[in-house]
Amino acid sequence: MTDQTGDDRYKLLLIEDNPAHARLVREMLRGTPCEGSDIKHATSLSAGLDELQRDNFDLVLLDLGLPESRGMETFTRFYTAAPTQPVVVLTSLDDGQIALEAVKAGAEDFLPKDNMAGSLSRTIRHAIERSRLSGKLLEREQQLRTIFNRSLDGMVVIGVLGKIHFANPAATRMIGADGADRLLFQIQQAKDLDLPINLTFDPDEGPQILAEVRIASISWDNTPHYLVSMRDITLRQKIEDNLRQAQKMEMIGTLTSGIAHDFNNILTAISGIGQFMASSLKVDEEFREDARSILGAVERGNIMTRDLLRLSRPQDIEKITIDLNSLLRKTEKLVAATIRKTHQMKFVYAQESCPVLAAPEALEQVVINLLMNARDATPEQGQLTVEIDSLNRAEPFPAVKGQAPPGRYARIRICDKGCGMPSEIRERIFEPFFTTKEPGKGTGLGMFIVYGIVEQHGGWIVCDSTPGQGTTFEIYLPVDLAKNQVMP
Ligand SMILES: Nc1ncnc2c1ncn2[C@@H]1O[C@H](COP(=O)(O)OP(=O)(O)OP(=O)(O)O)[C@@H](O)[C@H]1O
Ligand SMILES: [Mg+2]
Repeated sequence: MTDQTGDDRYKLLLIEDNPAHARLVREMLRGTPCEGSDIKHATSLSAGLDELQRDNFDLVLLDLGLPESRGMETFTRFYTAAPTQPVVVLTSLDDGQIALEAVKAGAEDFLPKDNMAGSLSRTIRHAIERSRLSGKLLEREQQLRTIFNRSLDGMVVIGVLGKIHFANPAATRMIGADGADRLLFQIQQAKDLDLPINLTFDPDEGPQILAEVRIASISWDNTPHYLVSMRDITLRQKIEDNLRQAQKMEMIGTLTSGIAHDFNNILTAISGIGQFMASSLKVDEEFREDARSILGAVERGNIMTRDLLRLSRPQDIEKITIDLNSLLRKTEKLVAATIRKTHQMKFVYAQESCPVLAAPEALEQVVINLLMNARDATPEQGQLTVEIDSLNRAEPFPAVKGQAPPGRYARIRICDKGCGMPSEIRERIFEPFFTTKEPGKGTGLGMFIVYGIVEQHGGWIVCDSTPGQGTTFEIYLPVDLAKNQVMP
């Protein structure tokens, strides 16, 4: 410790068997800045080690020639028992070689006993300061190591030939077996190292991840290297994609309802003229037949615009509490006639009642649209399944337009083993007028309407599709808890 007069008062332990030498050491410190130090004296190695068990010392002065051991053996025994204790060894004049060995093995310094009068105090002070400094450096290194090890971002130091010199645990988790090669390849391809790049990695465990990667040129062991930092943005990207999709749908929805409104007016005008022509006595029967065809087309157009307009006016739909099971029993009868001609159809109902606040006709349309799509995607005789159940979701879960909140839901699962969809189609199915069917075979409005109705019911859609294997849509509707007495 340094006191206010600038003197250094340390706690020292002198391990020295010769009492005369011990007295000499005290004498030598007289009149030096270390004069006020507290010096404890032990006359053997084992007594010294016992002292260290009892107390803390700034420095140990260790005579290498002790009764129990001599030379380097003394130091080794001491160091094994107290590896973190700063120590200066005291040697005879002809022990220069041993002194150096002890310093290499961990001693702070050495002092030749026969010639230490002028340097004892300085050596003690330097040894203590040096050991404090290296203690601080060690602590700082430990802190940095904790930061690297606990960081969620990956950090990699990679040589220009692709050798990884350092990788923290987050990076090791992310890059997987072929990660180093991919990193180097991308670094070499990158035109501008200042810009971040997005790369996918296949970790040895878990699903593929998307990482934002930044690269800096650094010097490592005096040779050029790259410092690569990488952040897992898989979840962020998914949330952003969902948000973009939701915004796009909102914009398209507004546009579509505007067009549907105008289109409805045009249809009203055409319908008026068509009715006039169809009922006119002045025209022949063939002409009237044409007029009736026009009216038929107008009627189809009316149904379409009615559906679209209903989506844009949620306040107009009237909701009642219904049990999904009984609603879908009616739907089953309705679709049986058409679908059973070509496909097998299975409805599985929930054991419990599933009350939801819904517009029955609209929900029926959701199931019919999904079933028609499932049928169109499935070869003849293939099976389509509709399952109804209810469940508690304890965690938020990803759905088409974002994260659905936890809660009690009634669920309709519509499952086919048809052609499935690649991701570029799956991303677009909810857009109005998006269809992969031949011209005239599909309007591309089915899923748009499904999306709108489910949204109007405060529900969520989850879509899982694999090309060649089939598709499952899940519709989650909040259970009407007020009417939920029968459920636990
Ligand atoms: N179960 C499914 N399996 C495979 N592809 C599907 C499935 N459901 C929807 N799709 C794809 O989504 C597209 C859009 O479906 P949507 O119902 O909106 O329109 P459509 O079926 O093409 O036309 P419409 O519904 O007017 O007959 C379909 O053309 C098809 O490519
Ligand atoms: Mg459809």
